[in-house]
Amino acid sequence: MRIAVFGANGPTGRHLTDQALAAGHEVVAVTRRPGSLAERRGLTVAVADATDEEAVTAALDGTDAVLSALGARFSKDTITTYSAGAMAITGAMARHGVKRLLTVSSSIADPHWRPTGAHFFNLVLDPLVNRRFGRTLHEDMRRMETLIRRTDLDWTLVRPSGLFDHPTVTAYRTAESSADGVFTARPDLAASMLRELEERRYVRTAMGVITTVVKPNIAKLIWNEGVKKK
Ligand SMILES: NC(=O)c1ccc[n+]([C@@H]2O[C@H](COP(=O)([O-])OP(=O)(O)OC[C@H]3O[C@@H](n4cnc5c(N)ncnc54)[C@H](OP(=O)(O)O)[C@@H]3O)[C@@H](O)[C@H]2O)c1
Repeated sequence: MRIAVFGANGPTGRHLTDQALAAGHEVVAVTRRPGSLAERRGLTVAVADATDEEAVTAALDGTDAVLSALGARFSKDTITTYSAGAMAITGAMARHGVKRLLTVSSSIADPHWRPTGAHFFNLVLDPLVNRRFGRTLHEDMRRMETLIRRTDLDWTLVRPSGLFDHPTVTAYRTAESSADGVFTARPDLAASMLRELEERRYVRTAMGVITTVVKPNIAKLIWNEGVKKK
């Protein structure tokens, strides 16, 4: 398959690109910063801002499916990356007749998601970090989800929990709507998307994905996600 990957130079997008190439797919890596991606066999780099429908339309020429790991940083201001990106990507897909879309969203987008036994997370971290500091980001994720649900594409909204780095794919779990767990390793998120591309178990619904066999080091997680990434 020839797969377009949005957010290809981001931490999840890099796993998606690597794993897709390793599985024998061709990848069109869509990025604003082409210099950040090394040339490789099977990889084409397309320069586009994901919110620019004309540029996205050019990037999607000849592709069979779209995987998006686009993301924005927390901000107190209104965020539009997710919804504007979804608008441009779904518009460009319609123009090309490309039907299959898998987009990273978040477990937070499921209003019923409360991981079992995670009392400190549910009572302290989630309200403070996700619902307060991440309020505008998650509002835009929900706008993205609504926009994608209204299309006639074969979409899957992929909802990971707290992302962390890990060197390999593990025995991750998926579930409809959201999965019961606090963390998701990025290689597992990427692997779940590529597997769903083949298996089509969650077409026109949301797929939660969590990692259970390894847990992140919390101090490292806060440093990597909260401090280093800013
Ligand atoms: N962190 C968590 O705990 C968590 C939990 C659940 C879900 N998520 C979601 O998971 C996804 C992946 O997160 P991540 O931390 O692996 O990646 P990330 O650091 O959020 O990377 C985002 C990627 O999107 C690209 N991007 C942003 N705006 C763009 C635009 N207008 N045009 C083109 N590219 C654009 C960035 O490219 P540039 O380098 O050009 O900026 C980067 O490659 C995100 O949607 C995030 O919100 C995260």
